[in-house]
Amino acid sequence: MRMYDIIEKKRDNSELSYEELKFFVDGVCKESIPDYQVSALLMAIFLRGMSPRETSDLAMLMAESGEILDLSPVNGIKVDKHSTGGVGDKTTLVVAPIVAACGVPVIKMSGRGLGFTGGTVDKLESIPGFRTSLGKGEIIRNAEKHGISLTGHGAEMVPADKKLYALRDVTATVDSIPLIASSIMSKKIASGADKILLDVKCGKGAFIKTLEDAMELAGLMVDIGKRVKKETAALVTNMDSPLGNAVGNILEVIEAIETLKGKGPADLETLSLELAAHMLFLAGQGEIEYCRRMAKDALDSRKALEKLREMVNAQGGDEEALDNYTVFKQALYRREIKSEKDGFVESIDAGLIGRASVVLGAGRETKDSPVDHSAGIYLYKKPGTMVEKGETLATLYTNN
Ligand code: URA
Repeated sequence: MRMYDIIEKKRDNSELSYEELKFFVDGVCKESIPDYQVSALLMAIFLRGMSPRETSDLAMLMAESGEILDLSPVNGIKVDKHSTGGVGDKTTLVVAPIVAACGVPVIKMSGRGLGFTGGTVDKLESIPGFRTSLGKGEIIRNAEKHGISLTGHGAEMVPADKKLYALRDVTATVDSIPLIASSIMSKKIASGADKILLDVKCGKGAFIKTLEDAMELAGLMVDIGKRVKKETAALVTNMDSPLGNAVGNILEVIEAIETLKGKGPADLETLSLELAAHMLFLAGQGEIEYCRRMAKDALDSRKALEKLREMVNAQGGDEEALDNYTVFKQALYRREIKSEKDGFVESIDAGLIGRASVVLGAGRETKDSPVDHSAGIYLYKKPGTMVEKGETLATLYTNN
């Protein structure tokens, strides 16, 4: 088999066979295919697309390029949750403790932020002492003992996705629906959960801008789940405005804790409860209405907050952070942005707010750049709210 022929076939809009995709993924991992040929195929896929069968084969082959976690020692149906990425999206920090507090084990591997979208690992690491790189044994032990384990992806997992994502990032081929679908699902398959809930973000602060594309991506990932025998469901949710009021790692962790105390912003609480209910439903806990009530009870009773405390303790974090926010590193500089006139907030562009937070230090320009955990933006006004001249619209936090 020759890489040239595979590129030519995709360029001419034909479907690649399982064997051709395997040749490609193996060659990427062994580095026997030069980057220029890998990039050429990625661009051909970007332009020509892939069928659901090709997308599913690519996801499975990427998952099998590294270790696939065996979660069978943990009792119960394990449900994973994944957001395609947004601005101010801290739902995992709220949803995972709610679901675990309902007795359904949550073992979730998350990523770091890239570009203007945040990542759960960066948020967790802003809790003093919190460890996100746990070995397999510790992940399983924590899940058995506490019912919850939130970590990063192990170095030995999905090497094909790591290599392909790095090339996509520099060849303008990130926002291809089949490539996004196979990349996300490869990581979900490798994480070993039995069932998967996807939160497909759509709007100005997401990879996917239109409802039509978001529905296509959601459908494709649900189809991959079916083909690999992992029941998958997807919610398509709005990401035109940032979720909640806080954007930036420490600000978002505090907002998630406040939400678990029943004092969070309404949009964050509503979405978190809905995601938690769907995870409980997938885990076979009952009808969706019953699962909604279970999730709300876990929140209202503060059992979810105590589950977060248990996890923070188990992973070496300072649990004082849940009660006393001065434990978090404070930004050196803050600046208030005041409204110049009376009126209403019509919209808040999540993409622009996300980019502004990266400039303040809260995000990564490249995969390896560090993040400033205390940087970010706090928004006081949601779309639709009235504002008077001189009122504070937002506070910016930075160390630079
Ligand atoms: N998130 C991923 O994990 N992969 C993509 O390709 C895009 C978003």
